[in-house]
Amino acid sequence: MAIRIDRGNSAPWPYPRLIAHRCGGTLAPENTLAGFDACVRYGYRMVEFDAKLSADNALFLLHDDTLDRTTNGRGPAATHTWQELAALDAGAWRGAQFVGTRLPTLADAAERCARDGIAANIEIKPCPGREVITGTLVAQGALALWRGQTPPLLSSFSFEALAAARDAAPSLPRGMLFEQVPADWLRIVSELDCVSLHASHRYLSEPLVAQIRASGLRVLAYTVNDPARARLLEQWGVDMICSDRLDLLS
Ligand code: G3P
Ligand code: MG
Repeated sequence: MAIRIDRGNSAPWPYPRLIAHRCGGTLAPENTLAGFDACVRYGYRMVEFDAKLSADNALFLLHDDTLDRTTNGRGPAATHTWQELAALDAGAWRGAQFVGTRLPTLADAAERCARDGIAANIEIKPCPGREVITGTLVAQGALALWRGQTPPLLSSFSFEALAAARDAAPSLPRGMLFEQVPADWLRIVSELDCVSLHASHRYLSEPLVAQIRASGLRVLAYTVNDPARARLLEQWGVDMICSDRLDLLS
């Protein structure tokens, strides 16, 4: 392969093999601090979570564009102020024991990472039309909030958001997220100066993982919940496995 990534995969790498998807996988309400408790319980040392902006540009954790599935709020997250979002219940949908769980801010997540010694993969998940500002503010926030900790690995499905993150905080490591890896992946990761490529494990194969790693990138596979599949991916050379089943993969 003609191009090699500068910070190649032979360099020291601060992240562990296993990553808890959406903070605590299926063991806690997704993207909440309750997930960190599950991480500690199962010995996980890294979380992935989704970060976006409120209407008044507060940085907080939520996967969907809308509030309906994982909170008791309604409608698009981007039209609510942080004061409105902070009052929502983000745990009741997962079970009575999680009633009263709140949406965390990015600062809350940084605090828990520091307290529990957990590294972070911050997925920049912009609401539609807010790609650039979300990339910029998440990267600036991450740089400030994780000072003194293992640098968070920033990722996104949005090229625009990750490009904005690169411009706002060039020193933070970046990983491009794909579902299926496109033919022009090397051009994309080179433009964004990525250290890693993140893809759905369903579309990964041994030759593709070898090709990506030969370019100098690390590979993250999501969302892997079957221990046999995780072992196979590891044999292929996958560096990081993002899982919902902290209880099965440890
Ligand atoms: O970063 C891996 C994974 O979180 C990407 O998919 O939809 O769960 O955010 P999603
Ligand atoms: Mg995610």
